[in-house]
Amino acid sequence: ANNNDGIGGFPKYKIVNVSDFQQQVKSSGCPVYFFSYPLTNEPCFLVDLEALLGKPVPQIPNPYYGQYAGPLGQIKTINGVGPNNSIYAFSDVCVHLGCQLPAQVLVTSDNNPGLDIQNSVLHCPCHGSMYLLAKGGIVVGGPAPRPLPIVFLEYDQNTGDIYAVGTNAPYFSASIPRTTPSDNLLYDPRYDYSVPSNPSCSKG
Ligand code: FES
Repeated sequence: ANNNDGIGGFPKYKIVNVSDFQQQVKSSGCPVYFFSYPLTNEPCFLVDLEALLGKPVPQIPNPYYGQYAGPLGQIKTINGVGPNNSIYAFSDVCVHLGCQLPAQVLVTSDNNPGLDIQNSVLHCPCHGSMYLLAKGGIVVGGPAPRPLPIVFLEYDQNTGDIYAVGTNAPYFSASIPRTTPSDNLLYDPRYDYSVPSNPSCSKG
């Protein structure tokens, strides 16, 4: 974290400059960019939904809207950031039992589940939970008890820098919202997480 200006006590953390991300999308075709947030080794990822789906996605519903007291539960829609308002961020840890999600895998098959490029479904290889990213990470299959946490982003139009500033949801194994970064353990300590280097995509 580089300062304390995030939402509700979360750190504000610079993820990447949008031109570098766009260059990655252009050269590698990979619309996913990994980063750690709010703590080191808590993997999250940016996804350019327009680059993924081939159509504009300027906002997505906040699936946690109205479910919690406080400012985060009052945000109805999440606006994408970047020049096309199409960049979003999610946790890369499954809220079922904490497996790391293979967001870098773009082609789904029986042997290589991952992010289904056709419909933005991210599939957990452990027990089959499926999250629909274009609808805010809602659960469309499997045992996950709640949507994939969204990471709130801020975009500096002058510099093109993209920042993480908070999250909307209880992370792994928490049933109530938490407010400080140190409360928000995204991960299950039984697992080893790693943040893939970028560009991260691989074809199944
Ligand atoms: Fe992802 Fe169980 S940990 S479905």
